[in-house]
Amino acid sequence: MEDDDVEENIEEQNEELNEEKKEDIAADFEYKDIKDLPGVGSTIASKIKSAGYQDIISLATANPMVLVEACGIGEPTAKKIVAEARDASGMNFMSGLEFEDKRKSVQRISTGSEAFNILLGGGVETQAITECYGEYGSGKSQMAFQLAVDVQLPVEKGGLDGHAIWIDTEGTFRPSRIEQLAASKGLDPKQALQNIKIGRAYSSDHQVLLVNKVPELVNADPKIKLIVVDSMMALFRAEYVGRGTLADRQQKVNVVLHTLQRLADRFNIAVYITNQVMARPDVMFGDPTAAVGGHIIGHVATYRIYLRKGKKGSRVAKLVDSPSLPEGEASFEITSNGIADLDEEKKK
Ligand code: GTP
Ligand code: MG
Repeated sequence: MEDDDVEENIEEQNEELNEEKKEDIAADFEYKDIKDLPGVGSTIASKIKSAGYQDIISLATANPMVLVEACGIGEPTAKKIVAEARDASGMNFMSGLEFEDKRKSVQRISTGSEAFNILLGGGVETQAITECYGEYGSGKSQMAFQLAVDVQLPVEKGGLDGHAIWIDTEGTFRPSRIEQLAASKGLDPKQALQNIKIGRAYSSDHQVLLVNKVPELVNADPKIKLIVVDSMMALFRAEYVGRGTLADRQQKVNVVLHTLQRLADRFNIAVYITNQVMARPDVMFGDPTAAVGGHIIGHVATYRIYLRKGKKGSRVAKLVDSPSLPEGEASFEITSNGIADLDEEKKK
């Protein structure tokens, strides 16, 4: 498939998406509206809303007796509705044992470099968001290409025998690079492309819409094990200029990130997002790069990797803020065959 064909395909897909009404993008970007909960029709839903519970999250924290009053329904029904809202919002507690079981199902996708894998505790994890930030050309997108191919490998080769979703906000997805990487890993290049669903986002609203489409895609194809968002912030950054709208932007970005995290948890998927940062020569101490939206993403992403160019064309990945792994660095290189460990010569 030529790049042009793919562009055309993406255009078609997106036209379809654009036809859906803007209003369909629920204000809070939840998957569901209150009226979609079992046992709630549109009549009860509107009564619940007039009682002040606009979305599933707020309903999940409601006192059932208030619903009894406001909606004229019986107590058992009210309790059931609140319980359904809690389930749907993923707000339930689980025991430590259940938690441990869930952690046991975490899987990892190889980055292509052993040193990089070790830094990440084995590779990029499912049930987590991994954010990669760095300057232009540092290799954030290359890493995404590699993961989208490696996820398709069998488990013994560092993959998950899975498929990928790719949300492209900058128009930098390159089918030919996927084919090249796939061939070098012994995969059928066309099949590898077939196994990646690409959504090109043209605006931040569109990006939100695409993220909200993911549950449908995952239901249709349970082999999906990786979601790439390259890049997470570009459209938000471009659209929200001027300080007045920063809080608004932050709220939207947060909702997207939380949706991604819920998808990761619920379907045991790895989420990989990129974020371009610019070098700040005026910052003399500490981190000389300021992640655009960095502090926004920072609290949500489970793993943050700072990528920079190293000596002799190598790349250096630094693990920042990880829940259980020590901070550290790993060097690797980007070759025509993809991400690889440095050869002995370049390690010096
Ligand atoms: P922005 O999206 O601009 O923020 O940059 P990025 O961090 O996504 O950079 P990207 O991943 O696109 O990295 C680009 C770099 O990867 C190039 O400058 C090359 O050094 C390297 N690269 C890309 N393709 C190849 C290839 O086929 N062979 C080799 N050897 N290197 C490549
Ligand atoms: Mg890029």
